[in-house]
Amino acid sequence: MSFDIAQIPSPCYLLEEEKLIANLELIKRVQEESGAKVILALKGFAMWSTFDLVKNYLPGCTASSLYELKLADEKFGRENHIYSAAYREDEFAEICQLAGHIVFNSVNQWTKFSKQAIDAGVSCGIRVNPGIAEVETDLYNPCFSGSRLGVRPEHLKGAELAGIEGMHLHALCENMADSSVALIDAFEARFADYIPWLKWVNFGGGHLMTHADYDVEKLIKRIKTFKAKWNKQIYLEPGGAIAWRTGPLITSVLDVVPTDGLDVAILDISATAHMPDVLEMPYRPTITDAGAAGEKPHTYRLGGTSCLAGDVIGDYAFDEPLQVGSRLIFEDMIHYTMVKTTMFNGVRHPDIGIWRSDDTFELIRRFTYEDFRDRLS
Ligand SMILES: Cc1ncc(COP(=O)(O)O)c(C=O)c1O
Repeated sequence: MSFDIAQIPSPCYLLEEEKLIANLELIKRVQEESGAKVILALKGFAMWSTFDLVKNYLPGCTASSLYELKLADEKFGRENHIYSAAYREDEFAEICQLAGHIVFNSVNQWTKFSKQAIDAGVSCGIRVNPGIAEVETDLYNPCFSGSRLGVRPEHLKGAELAGIEGMHLHALCENMADSSVALIDAFEARFADYIPWLKWVNFGGGHLMTHADYDVEKLIKRIKTFKAKWNKQIYLEPGGAIAWRTGPLITSVLDVVPTDGLDVAILDISATAHMPDVLEMPYRPTITDAGAAGEKPHTYRLGGTSCLAGDVIGDYAFDEPLQVGSRLIFEDMIHYTMVKTTMFNGVRHPDIGIWRSDDTFELIRRFTYEDFRDRLS
């Protein structure tokens, strides 16, 4: 453990600054060696208290909505890109003011907004669907049959695309380098006719380049061969990879209750409110020093404080019995976790803190009753 747990309040999302810097250093190398620009997908990581650091490494952000775009502009202030499955008329003028790059999801949307965007000096792109199958779960696979995300080659034919400067494709999710290569190969194979007319190509997110098993050299090499052939500006826009394994969610046991099955330890968090992907994806988070049920002497089911019967994280085994006040460390809870939390049931939202590189703890945010009240009216 690279932090002193005694100093951390519970519950708390704890970003470990040194780990974030290590990820950013690797991504800096990818940019320098491949010639691609890597921008931060805010949907995956929007902890803006770190942006003064992050913007030393990344040239900008990509947003999924007007509000994310405003955040990018206000707190990051470098290149602002945006992609949304559809834009609203009543927001589009403001989007054009803030964004340097706008990506449209359909020929209809491009036709509707092209004049407004071009008149505002925005560089416009269209999202295409490369039809690959690198993601097994449909929930995260933009290429499943019937997916609304991106224009298929047959629907681009004959479309009036004059003014389009870029193409964007996002078809990966926590993938390794072979999938990144497959994506670029598929783009070249299916959209070659359009590439000469473009200024830039955005190969989307899902390239998990900070994962220990990701072959960074393979990605760099493939981008370089693409650039050598076509001479385009390349963007990648990962979210998860930026904050991959940069810190845990620290929690405590509030009670241990008997049931007609396993004893259940009730924690000071809620799976549905504070780690929603555990239920939605679903996946089993790692707990430091815990094992699978039965692997160690004391097995418990871990549950949250909400009313949801299924607010259950899973069954875990520990060396010692759990007690009221026992601390549990859920690993890798920064990307896609903080951005998705809710205040369901009014359950107290975990603090946000940073374990600084100089081994000090900084409490960045404590959520209050007023935060809960002011979400609705
Ligand atoms: C269009 C787009 N770009 C980028 C990303 C970021 O992907 P990841 O966080 O997996 O790198 C996503 C994720 O859903 C996306 O939909």
